[in-house]
Formats: sequence, structure tokens, C-alpha cells
Amino acid sequence: MANSVLLTPYSLGRLQLPNRIVMAPMTRFRAAENGAPLPIVADYYAQRASAGLVVTEGIWPSSRGQAGWRMPGLETSAHIAGWRVVTDAVHAAGGRIFAQLMHGGRQGHPLSRLDGDVPAGPSAVPVPGPVHIRDGGKADPVVPGVMTREDIHTAIRHHAAAAVNAMSAGFDGVELHGANSYLIHQFLADNTNLRDDEYGRGSIADTVRFGVEVVTAVADAIGASHTGLRLSPGNPQFGMTEADPGPVYRALVEAIDGLGLAYLHLTDNNRYPALTDLRPRWAGTLIANVGENGSPTTQKEGEAVLSARKADLVSYGRAFIANPDLPARFAAGAGLSDPVEEKLYTHGADGYTDYAALEMEPAES
Ligand SMILES: Cc1cc2nc3c(=O)[nH]c(=O)nc-3n(C[C@H](O)[C@H](O)[C@H](O)COP(=O)(O)O)c2cc1C
Repeated sequence: MANSVLLTPYSLGRLQLPNRIVMAPMTRFRAAENGAPLPIVADYYAQRASAGLVVTEGIWPSSRGQAGWRMPGLETSAHIAGWRVVTDAVHAAGGRIFAQLMHGGRQGHPLSRLDGDVPAGPSAVPVPGPVHIRDGGKADPVVPGVMTREDIHTAIRHHAAAAVNAMSAGFDGVELHGANSYLIHQFLADNTNLRDDEYGRGSIADTVRFGVEVVTAVADAIGASHTGLRLSPGNPQFGMTEADPGPVYRALVEAIDGLGLAYLHLTDNNRYPALTDLRPRWAGTLIANVGENGSPTTQKEGEAVLSARKADLVSYGRAFIANPDLPARFAAGAGLSDPVEEKLYTHGADGYTDYAALEMEPAES
């Protein structure tokens, strides 16, 4: 595409991105049972290293935050060693990679966790069922435990520790998952946070407190310039309800704007115009995702977001699954392959690392 803004470079702090195309975080269940990423995970991300920035699938910071069986972790030395293979492979392929830390909170099931415990969230409100359990099974959801103040402080410490582990594993930074129904989002939403303490919904300052404290703890641990945050205001995924997201997300963004974070990654939808409302309140880099709960984001949509200056970078999820060389395809105006839906959440290389890059014609000399 001529005059593609997506294909122009961008300086993200110390990182020089060759284009403005971010690979969005996507859970693919390809970890070993102990939560260490398998060697095919390194192949998968290295194949996609031409993205301006790769953000990994959601990774649990501690086993208490494990939302699903064969999701990866960043808690143990085996996890760090496994991720080191991934980051080395991406860097050797010329790429840049952030780890997404995803604490499940109320998500998950005793049969999908290494510790076998009942998951816990802000309040005893179960996810709508059925839920995935180990070995491809499904079960009715369990009623989650209610996190005590001590549990909350522990979860904050676990995020900071996992972020330190991520940097030891060679990541360029960490994205905190505050979106799509996971723990930080559960504190922000109306129906999943029924608390009346200082993390509850008595005031907006209380409602955003957990998110602000996690972000601050991680930024203190690894540096704000290595810390990003993903938010999805109003996203109803997994039964979340937010009647009036504006005041909550404005307060959260305003509370963290001065920290100097690497970026804010916002998913936009037609219930609340997050990009339009929050862009003027955020001084730093903004990554937009505009495909939430709709069809996969197109090149044209990404170009429109950047041309309207609604964001600095655009993240692509599904398009990267079957098109590992997505930036080259955009540059060539080539068609995109469709992923095999049934293989999104299976295990192994099939439907994961076997999508080929385009064979480009050699440039004429
Ligand atoms: C298979 C799959 C797994 C996903 N897993 C995650 C995840 O772990 N963390 C997250 O923040 N979003 C996750 N998402 C949402 C994507 O990051 C992205 O926001 C969504 O796919 C919309 O973008 P798209 O239109 O470019 O696909 C997932 C999406 C898909 C399709």
C-alpha cells in the first residue's frame, strides 16, 4: 500500500521499531504442563519477529493466577529458562518482545491449575460457564474465593516478581493485562467487584486502586520504560459489565499518566469510544486494538487509526496467526491466509508453527 503509515518506523523508548504493527497477545496453550514454554513457542514468535513489537500470550505471574491448563508461567527457574530460549530466538531474528502478565483472578478451575486450588477474585462471582479444564475437557464454573487484603498485596508482589523474572529471561519489557476480564479488569468492572473496602466500588479512587498499585509496583521493580498496560474499557467478554466505563478509565489513566510507562494498549469498541476519550489524557505511546469481538482487524482499519492520529501503533491478533510475515504482506498488498479455528487452542506445532511466510519475488537489481 502506498503511503502506509503502518509501515513507518517508531521509537518506543530505546527500542527502534521498524514498523507500527504490534503482534497482539494471544493465548495458544502450547506450554508444557509445568508452565514452561516449549521449544515450538520460540519458533512461533521468531517467525513473527518482523512485527514492530511482539507481545506474548498471557502468562501467569504466579500459580495462584493460572487461568488455564498449559498456559505458560513466569514464576519458576524452569519458566525463566524456557522464556530465555524464546527471547533469544526473537532477538536473533531481529525482533523485540514484551511478556504479557495475565493473572486470572476469578478465571480458571481447580482442574485447570497446577496448585489445584479454587481461583479467587475481588468477589465471589463466578464466570459464566462452562469453563475449560485440563486435557481439553469442560466443567461448570466454580464460585471463586474472595481475595483478602493479604491476597491482594501478595498478587501485587507476584506481579513485580514475575516482571523481574521476565527481564531475567531477556524480555524487552512487560505488558500488564488489565483487559478482557482478567484480574485487574475484575477490580474495575461493576459486577465482579462487590467489595466495600479500599479496593471496592465505594469511590472511583478505590475501584482503580488495585490497577494503579500493580502498575506502580511493576514500574518500581523493572523501570517504567519497560512497563506497559493493556485495558479494554467496557469489554463484556466472559460476562463483565461496565455501565459507565468513562469515569473509571479516565481516573485510572490519569493516575498512571505521569509514571512514564512504555505504553498504554487500548482495545476500542462501539460501547465506549476509548481511543477518542483517553488519547488526550495519555501523554505516552498509545497502541490501539480495534478488532475486539468483531472481525479480524484489517490493514485499512489500522491505517485509518494511525492517519486519524488516534494511536501511535496498532496491534493485530488473528491476522498474525496464519500470516507470520504480516508486515511484508501489508507492504506487498498480498492476500491474507485464514487460521484454522479448531487448532487455535490445541497443543503442538500443527496449526501453530506450520503457517508459511509468503514466497516473495526477489527484488530486481
Ligand atoms: C486465539 C486468541 C487468544 C487471545 N488471547 C489473548 C491474551 O492472552 N491476552 C489478551 O490480552 N488478549 C488476547 N486475545 C485478544 C487479542 O489480543 C486481540 O485483542 C483480538 O484478537 C482482536 O484483535 P484482531 O482483530 O487483530 O484479532 C486473544 C485473541 C485470540 C484470537
